[in-house]
This record gives sequence, structure tokens and C-alpha cells, in this order.
Amino acid sequence: MRFVVGLVLGLALLTWGTFALVQQTTRAWTEKDVRLRAELGIGGARQSLSANWRSDRSAMLDQILRDISRDERIMAAAACDADSYLIASTAEFPPEFTCDWVSRRIGTRADTAPWPSWHHPDSLPGGPVMISAIPVSDAGLNLGWVTLVHDLSFADRRDASTRKFILIAFAFLAIAASIITIIVARLTSRSWSEEIRRIARGEAPKRPEFRPVLRDVRELVDRLMVEKETESESGAWTPQRLKSTLIRHLQGERVVIVANREPYIHEHQEDGSIKVIHPASGLVTALEPVMRACSGVWIAHGGGSADRETADRNGRVRVPPGEESYFVRRVWLTKDEERGYYYGFSNEGLWPLCHIADARPAFRGDDWQHYQAVNGKFADAVCAEVDTDDPIILVQDYHFALLPRLIRERLPRATVIMFWHIPWPNSERFGICPWRRELLEGMLGNSIIGFQTQIHCNNFFDSVDRFLETRIDREQNAVVQHGRPTLVRSYPIALEWPVRWLKLTPSTAECRAGVMTELGLKSDALLGVGVDRLDYTKGVVERLLAVERLLERYTTLQGRFTFVQLAAPSRTLIDRYRRLNETVEQVVARINERFGKNGYRPIVLLLSHHEPASVFRFYRAADLCYVSSLHDGMNLVAKEFVAAREDDRGVLVLSQFTGAARELTEALIVNPYDLEEASSALATALNMTPEEQSVRMRSMRAFLAEFNVYRWAGRMLVDAARLRRRERLSGRISGTQTQDVSA
Ligand code: G6P
Repeated sequence: MRFVVGLVLGLALLTWGTFALVQQTTRAWTEKDVRLRAELGIGGARQSLSANWRSDRSAMLDQILRDISRDERIMAAAACDADSYLIASTAEFPPEFTCDWVSRRIGTRADTAPWPSWHHPDSLPGGPVMISAIPVSDAGLNLGWVTLVHDLSFADRRDASTRKFILIAFAFLAIAASIITIIVARLTSRSWSEEIRRIARGEAPKRPEFRPVLRDVRELVDRLMVEKETESESGAWTPQRLKSTLIRHLQGERVVIVANREPYIHEHQEDGSIKVIHPASGLVTALEPVMRACSGVWIAHGGGSADRETADRNGRVRVPPGEESYFVRRVWLTKDEERGYYYGFSNEGLWPLCHIADARPAFRGDDWQHYQAVNGKFADAVCAEVDTDDPIILVQDYHFALLPRLIRERLPRATVIMFWHIPWPNSERFGICPWRRELLEGMLGNSIIGFQTQIHCNNFFDSVDRFLETRIDREQNAVVQHGRPTLVRSYPIALEWPVRWLKLTPSTAECRAGVMTELGLKSDALLGVGVDRLDYTKGVVERLLAVERLLERYTTLQGRFTFVQLAAPSRTLIDRYRRLNETVEQVVARINERFGKNGYRPIVLLLSHHEPASVFRFYRAADLCYVSSLHDGMNLVAKEFVAAREDDRGVLVLSQFTGAARELTEALIVNPYDLEEASSALATALNMTPEEQSVRMRSMRAFLAEFNVYRWAGRMLVDAARLRRRERLSGRISGTQTQDVSA
């Protein structure tokens, strides 16, 4: 409506402007026309005028003037001689335009130069007139002039009718334009609202000019989503919240996790019974609670001696025992496959490749063949387990670099999230791997790749940049290949909170009393603890050497301080691990020999698998825990120790080369290679006041409570949901399944 009012006002203005222009133009034409008539009229009568020109009034001259004023537009005429005397005039000649009056205006002189004609618009009571003075000469002598009075009232009449015509024309135009505008506006608004509704429903608009609107709407939704999630990130993450995030954002009831290590291993015991083992694996520690919360299926290598007989014919078993909230699907591997894929390519190739810990990676063609084949076997298992064409699959760790691409080829709409639990090396080191391109290509089948730290993300980008033809979108933190993005983000892994094992663990005092008795220590002895898989990346030898240096430097601790090392044998088919076992045993023996006396052993090495409940007893009993990894993605032992200390006591001494050191900044952070620094930190820990211990411990515990594993998984799932929404929207626009994230 406002537009129509504006349109009418605009047209009125235009009408007025047009009319003024037309009036000005016709006036000019009229005056020109009148001047021409005057010249022609006098020109035609010039001869008879000069022949009858006398200074006294002549009847003949009167007659000539009457003839001239017979023209309907000439009202009157008068003849004035060169001295401005009236020599003749028609009867109606207005008295105000005397010869003198004219002479004053044109400045006539009795010279021989021809006088110019003169025209002057004026008015009489009857209307506008034009006064023309046309000179009359004879043989070069100026005789005088004829004054003509033209009636211009016809011009006014013409102006009035022109105005009327223009008004009618414009009024008609205004009405027509308004009607057309209203009709067009109605039609357009109908089609606009249809387009907008289509966009709101998430469908592609039919008209291409609406695509930018869709993009804007998409961005807005994304922004709101992010804001909402960021807002809600402040609240506590719980298993229930994770579950509802999964349902709300991903419409998923269950997830599929693929990890080499299974969370529950069934092992035959010597007495013929079957025991359920919880493996020593940070990956399992973190993900098992996520799986309990989300339900679904965990696909893993069935490596336990009683795994086959405890699973159904599809390799499935319900877990956790007694609770049974999800399935483990076991994939059976031959001895050769296990040797090539797990021990060979994964743990003799990729593991040392990714860790800076003085171990050379070994890459063998045979192992690579097995690695490819086993990744294919797991892809089959994934496809057998999913029940939609767009499942959510969480692929874990370096054992499955090829799996995401294999899944993507078979389930193009799947959301595949990979978490790489260990460090990612710099691109130069990564280039050592003969199959570096294949590994990267495999990983770019993911929707999201998560690393423990931003440095590992950066290293990954550098590797992709160096070895593949892709576009790296630094703004979105994504690698775009064939128009499909893979987001690369850091998601530092965490623990469930509270850790469920603590429910089964006695109080600190009981744990301490029990452990001291078991180790044959006095109740006032000082106790340090280390908990690891026996892996060369964990810096166990360096840790023992730091303890040795501590006893050297602080002799009063000899006989008082004991360090207990829980070491779970790991990957023992690999030479490097076997050698490490031997070295550790030798170093322990040497130090004990050096400082031990009267039954005192400074180092107690418990070389066997320990179930989590037992590990937590040691955490609670100890005065300090030393985590000395030489290079580690995260190291959840550090977080477990803090989680165990509900009494807010105990000191964490932590290697700067762990991911955990970036988060647990209240720990005593050390370089494990620097024995002076490490032994000083151990001494500081043993001398720390209970108040300071408590301040540090409380702060770290608050952090772990907030940044728990439900939040870790929740963040990845929310990012995945956002990506899924974008892909769905852009898929509709282009008719393809997926699109560039920045499109
Ligand atoms: C590291 C890896 C995990 C692995 C764990 C135990 O934490 O990131 O993937 O499960 O070590 O190693 P294992 O070879 O015994 O599974």
C-alpha cells in the first residue's frame, strides 16, 4: 500500500514537472511564432507602408494597419515615425503602448543603420499580449516602425487544455500503474512466501535468486545452534545429557564404535573358569562410559582366549557383564593378520612413527597388506551392524586409518568421526611412511577427525598439504577433497566423572593401610606410584632414574621413600617391548641393590596386569604419582590419579610431553629427560604442605569434573550434527549428497 501511495505521489510530481516543461516549451514556440508572424505581416506590407508613410495621419496608412490587424492573433497596430510621433493606428490600439513608450525601450535613432525588430511580452486587463516593434525603412532611410499588439490569451487557453490533457493522461497512468503494481505485488508475495516457506522447510528454492536467502538462513541457524550449544556447554555433562544430545541432534539412538581393543576380554583361567579382563588402555577407559551412555555396538578384535565361546555366532556379546547396555561385536583375525596388522603395521610402524621416543618405525610390505585387509574386514563388520544409510560411526585410533574411506564408499551418507588418540608427527617424519598418501586418503573419508591437541591438528594439515592435492580451509579447520569437507579439530580426551571404579574403592585411609601392609612398608613411609602399560613411550626407565637421582640427592629419603611401579606387559611379541621389559627389570634391580638394605626396597615393580579397582587403590594410597611419558597424546593415568583423590591430597608430577600437561597445569610439570629437574620435583612433591596439595588437587578436580568424557563426546557429536545438517541442506540445493563446508 505504501508503495502505491508513493507511486501516486511520484506520478503527481512527474505530472507537475511535465506540465511546467510543456508550458515553458509551448510558450517559447508561441512567442517565436508570434514574432515570425509580425515580421512576415510587416514584411508583406513593407512596400505599401513606405509608399504611404507620412508624418501626418493618412487614411491609406490606417487601412494598411487595419489589413495587418485582420490576423486573428493581432489585436491592434500603430505606425510611429522616426521621431516617435504616432502617424496612424487602428481604433483598438491600447493607449499605454505609445510611440514614446516603445521608443524608450528600443532606443531608436534617426541614423542610417537598420533598426532591429523588438518584441516584448506584456499584459492587458484582457490577458497576456506581445508587443512587437518592426522597423520600416525606405532606400536605407529609417522611416519609423509599426507597433503590433498580439493577443496571447490563446496561449493561456492552450496551456489550460494541455494541462487538462496531461492531468487526465497521468491520472489514467497512475490508476493503471497502481492496479498493475497491486496485482504484481500480490503474485510476487505469494511466490515469495512459497519460496520462504520452502526454505524454512529446508527444501531448495525453485527460483535461483532465493539461494542467497537460503545460505543466510543456514548461517543464521548455524550461528544460533552454536550459541545454544555454547550456552549449554557451561552446564554439567552427564551420561543422560550425552544420550539426549545424540537423540536430539543426530536422531540417533545408538552409535557404532570401532576400536581394535575391546572393552571386555574373556580369558580362560588356569582353573578352567573364564575371567572378564578390563584391558589397560586409555582408549577403553575413556570410551567405555560413552558407550554405556549411548548404547549401540563396539566393534573390536576378539583377542581373548575365551572370546569365541562367550560370543554368539555373529561374534556378538552383551556387555557390561550384569548391566548389558550395549554389544561388543568381535572380529576374528588369523594369527597372520594379527601379526601383520596389529603388531606389525600398527605397532612397529605407525606407533613409533607418531611418537618421538627414540624408536625407529619399521614398514614392511607384508604388514601393509594385512593392515589393508583387516581394515576391509572391519568395514564389512560395520556395514553388517548398521541399520540406516546414515549411521554415526566413531572410528578409533591408528589401527584404522583406511577404514573411514572404506565406510564412506559403502555408506556415503554416514557420519564418520575418527579420533586419533596418539600424537600426529610433523610432516617430515610422517613422510617416512611409504604409504603416507594412502593413509591420508583413507582418513579423509571421515566427516570429522579429532586429535588430542591443536599441534597435532596442525601437523595433520601440514602432512595433507605436503602429500595430497586438496584444499585446506583454515577458516573452517577443514580439508576439502572433491568438494567434501573433513573437519579437523582438537578434542582433548577425558574421563567419566565420577569414575565408576571409585564406588568399589575403599577410603584413602583404608587403601593406604592396605597397600602399605602389602608392600611391607611402615605407615609413615612415603609412597610414590607409577602406572603404565610397559611401553617405551611412557618413560619408565627415565622415571626410575629420576627416583635414583632423588635418593642420591636427598639421602634422608633413603629408607623412607618407596616408588611402586605397576607395569602391565604390553605388545610382548615385539622385540622393542621385550627388551624394554628386560631393561626395566635390570634398572629396578640395580637401584634396589644400590639403596636397599634391611628389607627396604626403594622400587617395587609389579609387572602384571592390574584391574582398574586395584590401580585405584594404589592411586589413593600414594603421596605422589609420577607420569613421565616421553611423548603421549593425552595420558589418562594423570587424570585417573587426580580423579582418585577425593581427599584432595597427593601430588601429580607430570611430563611436559603429555597432552594432559596442557590441562592439568597445577601438577608439577617436568621434562622427564632432565633427571635433575624431575628429582627436584619429586622432592618438592614429598615436601608439599597438605594445604598446597589440596589447593592444587581441588583445582584439577574441578577441571576434570567439568571437562569430562561426556562433554568430549558431546562436542564431537554436536559438531557432527551441525555438519550433517549442512550437508543435508546443501545436498538438497545442489542435488548432490555433500558439499563444500564453506559453500
Ligand atoms: C594406546 C592406544 C590405544 C590402545 C592402548 C593400549 O592408548 O592409543 O589404542 O588400545 O594404547 O594398547 P593395546 O595395543 O594393548 O591395545
